Amino acid sequence: MIRSVVRGTGAALPRRIMKNADFEGMVETSDEWIAQRTGIRQRHIAADDETTASLGEAAARAALDSAGLTPADIDLIVLATSTPNNTFPATAVEIQNRLGMHHGFAFDMQAVCSGFVYAVTTADLYIKGGLAKRVLVIGSETFSRILDWSDRSTCVLFGDGAGALVLEADEGTGTIADRGVLAMSLRSDGAHKDKLFVDGGPSTTGTVGHLRMEGREVFKHAVGMITDVIEATFSQAGITAADLDWFVPHQANKRIIDASAKKLGIAEQKVVVTVDLHGNTSAASVPLALSVAVADGRIKKGDLVLLEAMGGGFTWGAVLVRW
Ligand SMILES: CC(C)(COP(=O)(O)OP(=O)(O)OC[C@H]1O[C@@H](n2cnc3c(N)ncnc32)[C@H](O)[C@@H]1OP(=O)(O)O)[C@@H](O)C(=O)NCCC(=O)NCCS
Repeated sequence: MIRSVVRGTGAALPRRIMKNADFEGMVETSDEWIAQRTGIRQRHIAADDETTASLGEAAARAALDSAGLTPADIDLIVLATSTPNNTFPATAVEIQNRLGMHHGFAFDMQAVCSGFVYAVTTADLYIKGGLAKRVLVIGSETFSRILDWSDRSTCVLFGDGAGALVLEADEGTGTIADRGVLAMSLRSDGAHKDKLFVDGGPSTTGTVGHLRMEGREVFKHAVGMITDVIEATFSQAGITAADLDWFVPHQANKRIIDASAKKLGIAEQKVVVTVDLHGNTSAASVPLALSVAVADGRIKKGDLVLLEAMGGGFTWGAVLVRW
């Protein structure tokens, strides 16, 4: 059976770090409120010359380096983003060009904060379907461009950045002892649109718009939705939380991460947390967290790793990978 095995990871962050205290003169808030309610201490904010394409390109190059590959080895680029450089063409195609890649194909995926989880499952199916052998899966965002910087309930929560994986086709035995993507569960429900959305777009206002969120409502649904898809993934693979080596959740809020891990019975020391460093970077948050845990030696070859995300739509999903 064909498996999509992780060959490399990479990340890229804007140069500028914005600390919680930097908001204190801009909106009525405090370092203490932000840290206590969200776990966030800082986030990176893109300068004018740093875009979703440039950050995505840098993360992709880092992932290729760590895999010992070059753009010539890649057949497909899947970019998860809700903040493309332009309405079209797809930013994935721009990244393809920046990498000097003029073969294969590239496209964007839009599932907001669940984008990277959707992109990994999509790449896995292209590999299993025989359309691609090596795929660059990228999550890259510049949410700072769509924030209302006068709205304290949203502007303190998000940050910019990018992360990437290289997935490669490999022969597996069809058991969960295989390396690669092993199980997945995806969901969406548009009935929740008004709880987290951007109030502009090409076909409605003709503008880019700003992020709007009923934070308490999102919070209320998050833990139940996250644990549902994770339990579906566990049952597909025939495992329990005790079998996991690492849980790499979407990094939106430390309280949501803690509550989900607790409900699932995942031990605290197995949870990778980077929300304190990056804030919520939407589709980039899971690959950024993965890159940190791979770089510091926590995630190693053979480890069983669970990825999870939930975001606007609502969309939500989980993927189980043996590293
Ligand atoms: C946004 C969030 C941190 C707010 O925390 P909360 O404990 O739910 O706080 P509430 O929304 O109940 O607001 C409590 C008070 O803090 C205020 N507040 C909101 N943002 C604030 C800020 N940055 N600084 C200080 N006070 C703030 C609110 O106005 C409210 O004041 P009020 O009681 O006078 O009306 C929390 O709801 C959350 O994280 N939700 C999920 C958001 C998320 O993860 N979204 C992305 C999913 S991909």
